[in-house]
Parts: sequence; C-alpha cells; structure tokens
Amino acid sequence: MAKARASKTITPKAQVKKLPAAGRKLKIGLVGYGTVGRSVAKILCQDTAGPLVLTHIFNRNIAKKKDASLPAHIRWTENIADVLSSDVDVVVELIGGLDPAGDWVRRALRAGKSVVTANKLLICEAGPELVDLARQMGKRLEFGASVAGGIPAIIGIQEGLAGDRLHKIAGILNGTCNFILTKMESSGTSFDAALKEAQQLGYAEADPSADVDGMDARAKLVILTQAGLRLRVRPEQIPCRSISSIAAVDFMYARDLNSTIRQISLAEKTVQRKATSTRVRLAAAVQPALIPAASLMAHAQGSQNIVTATGEYAGKMIFSGYGAGGDPTAVAVVSDLYTIARSAGAPPEALPGAAETPDEVSGDFTVPHYLRFVVRDRPGIVAALATILAHYQISIDALLQKPGFPHSALSFVMTLEACDSAVLRQALEEIAQLDFHVEPPLCLPIFLD
Ligand SMILES: NC(=O)c1ccc[n+]([C@@H]2O[C@H](COP(=O)([O-])OP(=O)(O)OC[C@H]3O[C@@H](n4cnc5c(N)ncnc54)[C@H](OP(=O)(O)O)[C@@H]3O)[C@@H](O)[C@H]2O)c1
Repeated sequence: MAKARASKTITPKAQVKKLPAAGRKLKIGLVGYGTVGRSVAKILCQDTAGPLVLTHIFNRNIAKKKDASLPAHIRWTENIADVLSSDVDVVVELIGGLDPAGDWVRRALRAGKSVVTANKLLICEAGPELVDLARQMGKRLEFGASVAGGIPAIIGIQEGLAGDRLHKIAGILNGTCNFILTKMESSGTSFDAALKEAQQLGYAEADPSADVDGMDARAKLVILTQAGLRLRVRPEQIPCRSISSIAAVDFMYARDLNSTIRQISLAEKTVQRKATSTRVRLAAAVQPALIPAASLMAHAQGSQNIVTATGEYAGKMIFSGYGAGGDPTAVAVVSDLYTIARSAGAPPEALPGAAETPDEVSGDFTVPHYLRFVVRDRPGIVAALATILAHYQISIDALLQKPGFPHSALSFVMTLEACDSAVLRQALEEIAQLDFHVEPPLCLPIFLD
C-alpha cells in the first residue's frame, strides 16, 4: 500500500508541481508546542521578512497551550490530521519519543511534505529508513537539532566535511553529565550532590538514568556515526558505562595526572584492505574517561557540548557550544528550515558513499587506563595486583596514593600503559576476586587526544 502511494508521487513532474512557487513563503506546521516548539514559534514569528511562515500549531490540550501573542492567522489544533492534510510544506516534529512521532513523520513524508525533527530517539532508531522514504517522496528530512542542540555538528560533519574521509568522531554529547562532572571537578562535591543540583536547576530529569548511564549520548553517537563515518550501527551494539561510579577523589587523582574526567562518546572506524577484501571495524563506546586538562574537551563547562571530527585530509575539526535548551535547539530547527527553503524542498544531492554496515563493532580501545582501588590496607596488595596484570602482559605506568585515608578504606590509583580494554577486563575479573576490596575497582580509559 505504502509502495503504491510512494510510486505515485515520485515522478519529477509531480515533484516540480509540489514546489512552492518562486517568492512564495514556505508554510510550516509545528507539531509539539513544548520547550523547543515555543522557541521555534517565537523565532519564526519574529522573522516576518524571511522565506518561512508558521501556519499551524498542533499539541494536545490546546486550550492550555494557546498563546495569544502569536499572529492570529496561525491555526491551533489538537487534531494531527489538520496539519498532515493541510497545505503546509514542512512539518516540524517536536513532540519527542518514538510513538506517535514516528508514525506522524512517515505520514507527513508520504503526504508530500518535508520534515524537520529534533528527535534523537527517532533518528537513532529509524533515521536511514526515514531518509530513504523522504528521498523516495522527493522531499527532505532534516534533523540537525537531534544532536548537540544548537551546535551545527550534523550539517558541519555531513556537508561541511563531505570532502574529507572521516575516521573518528568524539564528543561530549550529554549536557547533564557534563554539568554533573564539571560541578564535581570545580567544587569537590559527590556525584549524588551534583546530580541533585542538576535536578533542582532543571538540567536532569527526576529519573536521570538515560543521561548518567549513557543511553542519551549513545543515541546521538549512532546518528553522528551514520552522518560522519557513513556507518550504520544499532544503539545496542555500542556499550555504555555510567558516570555514577565516579567519586570526588577521582578528580583529585585526575588533577595529579594533569587530567580531568568527562563522559566521552567515541566512534573510530578502521578499514583493513587486503588483496581481495576490505574489512571495516567500528570501535565505539560511551563512558567516563580521563582526558588531558588542557584539551578542548576539558574546557566544555556546565551543560555545554563539544563534537570533534577527525579526517584523513583536514585533521581534527571542532564544534562546540550549548547543546540543549529551547532557544539553542530552536536555532538548529530554524536553520534546517532555511536549508529546505534554499533547496525549494528538493531532496539533497547525493552525499559521498552510502552508509554501510561495519564487519565488526566493538567497545574496546587500546589506550592507557586509570584504575582506582579502595582496599582494606595490608602488605602485599600492590604485588598481588601486579602479578595478575603481568600475567596479561599489562604494564603499570604509575602508582598514586593521597595521604589521609583510613587503613580500613584506603584509596589509591594505578595507571597502566596502553592495553586492549578487552584484555584488561579479563585481568580485572581476576582482580575482583581478591579479598581486600572495600568497593569494586574503578577502571577508566585515558584518551590522550
Ligand atoms: N529541550 C531540549 O533542550 C532539547 C534539545 C535537543 C533536542 N530536543 C528534542 O526536541 C524534542 C522536543 O523536546 P522538548 O524539550 O520541547 O519537549 P517538551 O517540552 O516535552 O515538549 C513536547 C511537546 O509535545 C507535546 N506532546 C507530546 N506528546 C504528544 C502527543 N502524543 N500528542 C500531542 N502532543 C504531544 C507535549 O504536550 P504536553 O505539554 O501536554 O505534554 C509538549 O507540548 C524531543 O525530541 C527532544 O529530544 C530537545
């Protein structure tokens, strides 16, 4: 059924008919009048001279939402069909979540409308399918706001760096985690106290797990991996580790190592070319990590985001700024609307290399590591740890111990020379069996660039 409908509307002739006439404004239907929707409406209604005009706003309980200060020509509705069957050129989806957002985006595209969305969950889950559908319909699907809010990371990577061959995307993609970790760093507070403050300030949800356990950043990393590395990957293939096991003392040790701790999302592509075959490996993970205190990532403060993209020709490029909030996110949405206005709704010209599925996806990196132990002190502890590490060919780089801890819960840190995190995991399973631990050892990768 869907196929039949699609084939009806994709002839170039039909596309041309549906384009707005020269000089006509692009009509916008807003689906979702919440934090971002309100900001999008504000920007669109202030810029009356531009090529965009807001004509419809959909939300539930419209009586509560209706804003009398917006122009009178706007039709407010709680019936989605009023938008999808109207003459709007672009539907802006800002309700969030997979359902019914996914259904409405598909219906909008099939009805011959372009779509702009800020919905990372939907794009992470169904991005390639929706892009294909938009292409089939001769329309555009733009999702610049779905990663890093107002920072033009997706367009920068996908279009600005299209001429490069990117092999690494890294970033601080979750403002809540960055707020918590930079708060712990600057004031020495515990994770729980920093989380509570983030909740009081509205940066963290009552249930913060999607942020602190890494799933929110992972959805964004999936989208960036597709846009920049041209690799299709499912979110569950990328391991996430929580920042909740970071303690105030880890920032003290990190400082001694000229480092700090951030939630880092990292995806690295390697291509092994042999005479008759090519093998593509993706290493990707979202986890707390030590990074150099002097690095640009370390300078992302509070709820800021940063995305770096490293390519074969141009080296490392950096995008940073405020990755969330109504106004910054609305800027990305409205910028996507301008992209559509400039293209008169036509689908994008081919981007280099269609996305492929990697042969191998792993969460393991060969890098130095930081191990923090809390133990009941007694002679022979370091020797026991060194014996197990040596068995796995892992070399110790340094030992650090702050004074002032009780013998019943002594904290010390070991840094390791570069080793494969999969091998280290095996060593840590053995180490965890030793009887002097007061709490499980903390293991963090150290990312030096
Ligand atoms: N906020 C940010 O900083 C930010 C940053 C980047 C991306 N985003 C993305 O932007 C999208 C919107 O986020 P937001 O912060 O604006 O969310 P929000 O404040 O919760 O707004 C969502 C709006 O959609 C309405 N809505 C939700 N489900 C609906 C349904 N089934 N039928 C009718 N109306 C419905 C809600 O109505 P009620 O008020 O009645 O619930 C609300 O007005 C999400 O995909 C989010 O991930 C947000």
